[in-house]
Amino acid sequence: MSIIRINGGKRLYGTVKVSGSKNSVLPILSASLLTEGKTVLHNCPNLSDVDAAIKILNHLGCKTEKTGDTITIYSRDSQACDVPDSLMREMRSSVIFLGAILAKVGMAVLSMPGGCELGPRPIDLHLKALRDLGAEIREEGGNLICHAKELTGCRIDLAIPSVGATENSMIAACAAKGTTIITNAAREPEIRDLGNFLNLMGYKVHGAGTSVITVMGGKPKPGDVEYTVMPDRIVAATYMAAAAGAGGDITLTNVLPGDVECITKVLRQMGCGIYMGEDNIRVVSNSPLKAPPPIKTMPYPGFPTDAQPPMMAACLMADGTSVFIETIFENRFRHIPELRRMGANIAVDGRVAMVKGGAKLHGAPVRATDLRAGAALVVAALAAKGQTDISDIKHIERGYDDLPGALRELGADIARI
Ligand code: UD1
Repeated sequence: MSIIRINGGKRLYGTVKVSGSKNSVLPILSASLLTEGKTVLHNCPNLSDVDAAIKILNHLGCKTEKTGDTITIYSRDSQACDVPDSLMREMRSSVIFLGAILAKVGMAVLSMPGGCELGPRPIDLHLKALRDLGAEIREEGGNLICHAKELTGCRIDLAIPSVGATENSMIAACAAKGTTIITNAAREPEIRDLGNFLNLMGYKVHGAGTSVITVMGGKPKPGDVEYTVMPDRIVAATYMAAAAGAGGDITLTNVLPGDVECITKVLRQMGCGIYMGEDNIRVVSNSPLKAPPPIKTMPYPGFPTDAQPPMMAACLMADGTSVFIETIFENRFRHIPELRRMGANIAVDGRVAMVKGGAKLHGAPVRATDLRAGAALVVAALAAKGQTDISDIKHIERGYDDLPGALRELGADIARI
């Protein structure tokens, strides 16, 4: 079993390139099913979740090639309509294939995704949207069986701006007859990226990245598609939190500063120097950090729930009390008991966490309970005195492309053992 070992207390200096976005490449891989030609995707992160998505495409009959950060998909001959339970379980977000399979084959059979580390993960909004488009969906023996001879454009009013439900709706609506209007759509930058990719495929998607998205159904244009996936804003947030907590002066490249404004605003409030270029951000953390105003996680453009754990870890080093209010996921404080093992002083009342800064963090054996909880442990361990061994790092590897290697380049004493 591999662990990440960190000897903390080293300041971070240098330049780090942010990888492509996990949450963007997954729906784009799913959408690639719709084209008849070849899809070439650049800036793909090397992650176990991406490998799981590739396995699903292969199972569906696609041919795929992975060279460096480029993935090529040949989906013309894919005709299978089922995703086996084992593959569904490998990646929780595999439900993102539902709309695309249905659109391509007219039928889809997927096992029901269960809960996950963050609590129950319902898919009612995905199913309602696909039913609105004309799909018949029933549950049978733990499977979802979906049929749609033809999808028909319609109005989809999402009760919550769910990222995944917005993406499934957009992809399925591309293959529908007529126009679909999605209201209360998620506005995350990854939705904008999916919209750009679908437009490049020849579909007509307007408003992706705003709360009203219009999709004119049709056919993809003939020929191949080549696209570069956007940078990962949560990976960027994690590096920035790491530099804030451990101190130092780092520059992130391959980042879209406009997409991480919520994070840079908080870091400035904490006393960090933030200098933004067109596609780079420099973070300078030299003086003692101050607790920021309360942070409430919200759908984009609010503070991202995925950045809450690593930012909480950075706030352990800030003077004063930092308050975090988690509104998106029920079970998103699982890093807190682990951080306490390192000396953190954090009180929790329901969905509110109060972080008393200034405690002296020390190394400890800890466990990554989920992806971003693992990121929080890395951030805390970099700032702590002594050795931290993080186990269950498979969670971290779902979403970070060689995090130990990148942090080592910045001067951290970190190794995957
Ligand atoms: C995506 C991201 C994840 C991020 C989350 C919120 C991917 C692969 N994952 O997850 O990293 O943390 O957005 O920014 O892009 N909900 C329902 N019914 C549904 C769907 C969602 O009640 O059918 C609820 C969820 O339980 C949650 C909230 O809506 O409380 C937001 O979830 P959603 O935006 O759908 O997150 P994901 O797309 O699963």
